Amino acid sequence: MSSLSIPASDPILEIKDLKTYFFLEKSTVRAIDGVNLTLPRKSTLGLVGESGCGKSVMSMSIMRLIQSPPGKIVNGEIKLHRDKTNEVIDIAKLDPRGPEMRKIRGGEIAIVFQEPMMSLNPLFKIGEQIAEVVELHQKVSHKEALDRALEMLTKVQISAPKQRLNEYPHQLSGGMRQRVMIALALSCNPSILIADEPTTALDVTVQSQILDLMSELQEDANASIILITHNLGVVSQMADQVAVMYLGKIVEFADTRELFHKPLHPYTVGLLNSVPVLGRKGEQHLEPIKGMVPLPTDAIKGCAFAPRCPHAMKICSEKQPILREVIPGHQAACWLHDEPQ
Ligand SMILES: Nc1ncnc2c1ncn2[C@@H]1O[C@H](COP(=O)(O)OP(=O)(O)O)[C@@H](O)[C@H]1O
Ligand SMILES: [Mg+2]
Repeated sequence: MSSLSIPASDPILEIKDLKTYFFLEKSTVRAIDGVNLTLPRKSTLGLVGESGCGKSVMSMSIMRLIQSPPGKIVNGEIKLHRDKTNEVIDIAKLDPRGPEMRKIRGGEIAIVFQEPMMSLNPLFKIGEQIAEVVELHQKVSHKEALDRALEMLTKVQISAPKQRLNEYPHQLSGGMRQRVMIALALSCNPSILIADEPTTALDVTVQSQILDLMSELQEDANASIILITHNLGVVSQMADQVAVMYLGKIVEFADTRELFHKPLHPYTVGLLNSVPVLGRKGEQHLEPIKGMVPLPTDAIKGCAFAPRCPHAMKICSEKQPILREVIPGHQAACWLHDEPQ
C-alpha cells in the first residue's frame, strides 16, 4: 500500500464511459457496459467481482488486446497521462496494431496474467524473452538487454538468476514463472502494471511472497497497479482503493479501509460475507451470494443485482441506479443509497 490519502487530481489513467462489446452471431455480449474509473499515480487499485463480471475484458481493453472481431470498444475513453511529457493520449482511439499502441503496451502499461505459460514462449530461454521485450522498447544492445534481464531476475528474487537466464519456462516452478512474468512486465519501467489474478494459480505461501514482491517493486518503480482478483483478502492487503464490478459495471468504489468497514452496495456486502478475509476478527460466518451472475446478453431494465439482492425494492427492477458519490470519496450504484427521481 503506497499511501493513505490519494490526490484524485493526479491521475495516471482515466476511463470514461467505457463499453466493450462482443458481437456474436445470435447475441451481443455487453462485457464492459459504461465503466468510469480513475487510477491515481503511484497507487494500487483493486478490481474485484465474481467470475464473468468483466474484469479481464477491462484489462484487455486497456491493453487493446481485445480480439476483434467479435470484440470491439464501442464507446468511451481510456486516457493515459504520460509520465515524461505530460501528454494525454486516448488509448481507446489508437490502432491496436499501430506503433503508438506497441510503444504503450509493455513499455508504459504492462500486464501479468494468472497463467504465465500464456505469455511465456516455451521454445525460448527466459533471458532471451526478457531481452527481446527490452530491445523492443529501448535503444540498447543485445548484451545490455541481457544484463537488464539478469538485473530484473535478481530483483524478483529468483534463486540462481544467472542460471535461469539460460533455462526454459518448463524448467521453472509455477511461482518462479510468475516471478519471471513480473520481471518481464517491469523490465521497461512501465507506469502502470495490470495484474490479472496474478496469484490465483499459486499456493498460499507463494501467493503472499509474490504479493510482497509486487508491493516492493511498486515502491521501487513508482508504478501504479491495477490488481484484478476475486480474492478480497488480497485486496485488503494490497490496494489503496477498490472498485467492485458487477456485470460490466462498477457498482461501488472507495478507499480500501472504507470499503471493508462500510460497504454500501449489497453486492459488496455479499462478496465480503462469502469469502474469508484475513485480519477480520472472530469466527467468520461464510455465506455465498445466492443465484448467479446474469448473462451480459440479457436485457436488464433495473439494477442487474436486484434478482439476487436481499434488500431489493420495487424501483430496483424498474430503473437502473447510477454510480454516485454517497459519502465523500465513496461511490455506490444502489437505490438504497439514492433518492428515487
Ligand atoms: N472473446 C469473447 N467472446 C465472447 N464473449 C466474451 C469473450 N471474452 C469474454 N467474454 C464475455 O465477457 C464477460 C466478461 O468476461 P471476463 O472479463 O473474462 O470476466 P472475469 O475476468 O471478470 O471473470 C463474460 O460474460 C465472458 O463470457
Ligand atoms: Mg478474468
